[in-house]
Amino acid sequence: MSEQVLPVLPQFAAKAYVDQAKYRQMYQASIDDPVAFWAEHGKRVDWIKPYTQVKDVDFTGDVHIRWFHDGVLNVAANCIDRHLARRGDQTAIIWEGDDPAESKHITYREMHAQVCRLANALKTQGVKKGDRVTIYLPMIPEAAYAMLACARIGAIHSVVFGGFSPDSLVNRIEDCGSSIVITADEGLRGGRKVPLKANADAALKKCPGVKTVIVVKRTGGAINWVAGRDLWYHEVCAQAAADCPPEPMNAEDPLFILYTSGSTGKPKGVLHTSGGYLVFTAMTHQYVFDYHDGDVYWCTADVGWVTGHSYIVYGPLANGATTLMFEGIPNWPDSSRFWQVIDKHKVNTFYTAPTAIRALMREGEAPVKKASRASLRLLGSVGEPINPEAWLWYHRVVGDGRCPIVDTWWQTETGGILITPLPGATPLKPGSATLPFFGIKPAVVDANGAELQAPGTGNLVLTDSWPGQMRTVYGDHQRFIDTYFSTYKGCYFTGDGCRRDEDGYYWITGRVDDVINVSGHRMGTAEVESALVAHPKVAESAVVGYPHDLKGQGIYAYVTLKAGIEPSEELRKELVAHVRKEIGPIAAPDLIQWAPGLPKTRSGKIMRRILRKIAENEHGNLGDTSTLADPAVVDDLVSNRMNRS
Ligand code: WTA
Repeated sequence: MSEQVLPVLPQFAAKAYVDQAKYRQMYQASIDDPVAFWAEHGKRVDWIKPYTQVKDVDFTGDVHIRWFHDGVLNVAANCIDRHLARRGDQTAIIWEGDDPAESKHITYREMHAQVCRLANALKTQGVKKGDRVTIYLPMIPEAAYAMLACARIGAIHSVVFGGFSPDSLVNRIEDCGSSIVITADEGLRGGRKVPLKANADAALKKCPGVKTVIVVKRTGGAINWVAGRDLWYHEVCAQAAADCPPEPMNAEDPLFILYTSGSTGKPKGVLHTSGGYLVFTAMTHQYVFDYHDGDVYWCTADVGWVTGHSYIVYGPLANGATTLMFEGIPNWPDSSRFWQVIDKHKVNTFYTAPTAIRALMREGEAPVKKASRASLRLLGSVGEPINPEAWLWYHRVVGDGRCPIVDTWWQTETGGILITPLPGATPLKPGSATLPFFGIKPAVVDANGAELQAPGTGNLVLTDSWPGQMRTVYGDHQRFIDTYFSTYKGCYFTGDGCRRDEDGYYWITGRVDDVINVSGHRMGTAEVESALVAHPKVAESAVVGYPHDLKGQGIYAYVTLKAGIEPSEELRKELVAHVRKEIGPIAAPDLIQWAPGLPKTRSGKIMRRILRKIAENEHGNLGDTSTLADPAVVDDLVSNRMNRS
């Protein structure tokens, strides 16, 4: 790991909200007296009824987490209405289409009308406060309108990433019991059409509870139409009034559910609530990106992931920012696209994922240098550990050495950024997410749960709450307790390993559980395994991650076929296609190894540690194999391993 230190740029510090001394002072204050700190910073949003209570948290027993819990607000009003007087005509969203010829600017005032109309249309369809609305949309402004329309009337949105398959959509609709879906005819990515409506139609055959489907016309492509169920978005909005009073919501009323992969079983519905989430995303957006009025800010995530929720929609809009939403992909029409968009819209802050940086790095410097990038001031990274080599390239080539990089560590569960540099305050170390944000108390614990006092390596936990923290797993509070609060008593366990160095900097090393991070997308190995064993020719399967040059981690599947079935290249392709269909393209295994047997203990437990080592091509160092029921299995797996790099 690189231990190079890049000092804070004086010209950046001079203009930033926070310099090094102020960071130390504010951080200390936030830890010494969190109630006083958040009582003050909670005021950054508009409350219909101000809170008198700030924090009510218990990480033990039944675990409860409440922030500002007697306050009343509306999240959509905070993201739209309160900006109207001062910046009604300012651009809220710059939308850049997949086709470079297509883009538009949407002002706060226009967004207000759009969101109100849709909110009224949802009401007409019978949607009430607390109802769940599933959103399955591409990266178009309607995705943000839909989220905000739900927030406006107190409905709980569940955005499902457009790359998920019909079956994944079924599970998510059924789990939260939503009776309405908002989708589009087709999405458009890299010049190719994504059949969203067709996917939704396939899914809805298995979701009898869904009564209404609202369809945005994006491409105008031919789609199937179910009379009595399907409605055009533009028609229902045209019929609705352009004014819809925001519903007063308690700070702890749910804002959204977002499904994410865990180490076991099906994806869990991470539940975020209104007040604390908004305060935290707005505050982190302002300080981490040092956002000032008039800046153009671009986060390249998809709204289907938490990064899109917190840092395309809620955080930036709560701050009255101009947020760019990009429908396309980094390498279409060519690999200069990101940099062209930066020049076209004079982007000041650019926030993307290491996997994109690594892919673009492979294309060399020329596509970057084709654009001036003169407007850029700050770069950000999120989603997975960034290797120092990619960090340095991003800094030197994309940022011309003059833009700080904020490597932001956080999770769907945390709602917002927890460990990150502040660009005017934090000397940077390439590959390190550096230091905790205000109010965040990380600790590194060893295998026995003892907290390391000195520098060292272990598991990352958080010993206290912050306002943006998830509150529960939707419909399964016990799973919330078991997943996050039972490994280390009284602490939130992140599932990540990390090292803390002598300067107190955090270096996230990746997941220590059975979650793999493929191109910044979280995938549970158990989900891929269950998709594989659902195939009629598969008897058993075990899935692990392995280091992948571009994706960070790749998916390595060991597959045992049923008796009498012969392995073949064709079958391998069939299994990959099968997983794509069951879950979605992001879950497709990169490598499949035919395994006559899997390494099991005498009690039948698969020894994943061994499978991980073989997949990592570290088979010289398998550790203790004496508890295996049949050690010969391992020899076969090693000699037929698929990753020999
Ligand atoms: C990983 C995405 C290293 C980590 C916001 C975490 C990171 C998981 C970083 C959450 C980072 C995210 N450095 N690792 N800067 N950011 N991760 O829920 O393993 O999609 O637990 O949230 O991504 O992924 P999720």
